[in-house]
Amino acid sequence: MNEIIYRPRRLRQNENFRRLIRETSLSANDFIYPLFVMPGKNIKKEVSSMPGVYQMSIDNILEECKELSLLNIPGIILFGIPEKKDPLGSEAYSDEGIIQKATQEIKQHYPNLLVMTDLCFCEYTSHGHCGIFENNDVDNDKTLELVFKTAISQAKAGSDIIAPSLMMDNMVKTIRGALDETGFSNTPICAYSAKYSSAFYGPFRQAALSSPMQGDRKTYQMDPANSEEAMREIMLDLDEGADIVMIKPALSYLDIIRRAKEEFNVPIAAYSVSGEYSMIKASAKNNWINEKQAVLESHLSMKRAGANFIITYFAKDLVNYLNE
Ligand code: PBG
Repeated sequence: MNEIIYRPRRLRQNENFRRLIRETSLSANDFIYPLFVMPGKNIKKEVSSMPGVYQMSIDNILEECKELSLLNIPGIILFGIPEKKDPLGSEAYSDEGIIQKATQEIKQHYPNLLVMTDLCFCEYTSHGHCGIFENNDVDNDKTLELVFKTAISQAKAGSDIIAPSLMMDNMVKTIRGALDETGFSNTPICAYSAKYSSAFYGPFRQAALSSPMQGDRKTYQMDPANSEEAMREIMLDLDEGADIVMIKPALSYLDIIRRAKEEFNVPIAAYSVSGEYSMIKASAKNNWINEKQAVLESHLSMKRAGANFIITYFAKDLVNYLNE
């Protein structure tokens, strides 16, 4: 027994030893907070499946931004719930759209807070698909024409980062072209490159009112079984000009985050999605797990896997925990 030479427990014997050899850490620098904005005044409606997450009108969004600035969180990602939906999702690319208005207001009051704008159509279309829906499928190239317009209107409104989440082929190239042609060559693109067709988006679709009326998103979002294909998606988006690539969801796809980090060595975002939030919230409410420990551990695992930053509904809680 005294033949054991390496005893890993030597360096775990107290917190100060553990601090010295800790390989990964979390800080406020790591988080982007998602916000759901809708028209109106003084609206703050809790999403029933996501306790602590709200649909808000712009006035309340500004209050949130104040809190986020005080917490030193670098930025937000905005999702819009439009006044009216139609087959083309025209509010997505209108200069008077809810995202555009919210972005303008936020940048006016909080110029230092990064505003990332989600670029997709499912919240804006009457059928709930992420693009122009014809003959029972989304038409890729017709949708790109709307992507082009939407990118320009978001950039004009002051978006700091355009984040296309619709999983259309050539979307990044289309956006890079649109931005470069209109004087926004300095606006980066954070592409949802490996976005899986996931059951974990359920609560989000309730928050953003974006469920497809019929069918699913399997012809555009990725098959959860695939990892090689995720590398091809990432490679394509980088070739087309993506500055940051995103993997989504996070927890079930930590292997994809790690592979992307090793194979491409570019900035990687992880999106810890609505279902991941709701699972922790629901089990903590039942006293089945410790919420704080579960939140810290799961986000640490995303960093350890290789994410540079994490889009998460727990951003404020995390910073509060880290400040304790
Ligand atoms: C829009 C979009 C979705 C999410 C982010 N952007 C939903 C979807 O694809 O249905 C999910 C985010 C979450 O679950 O937190 N396409």
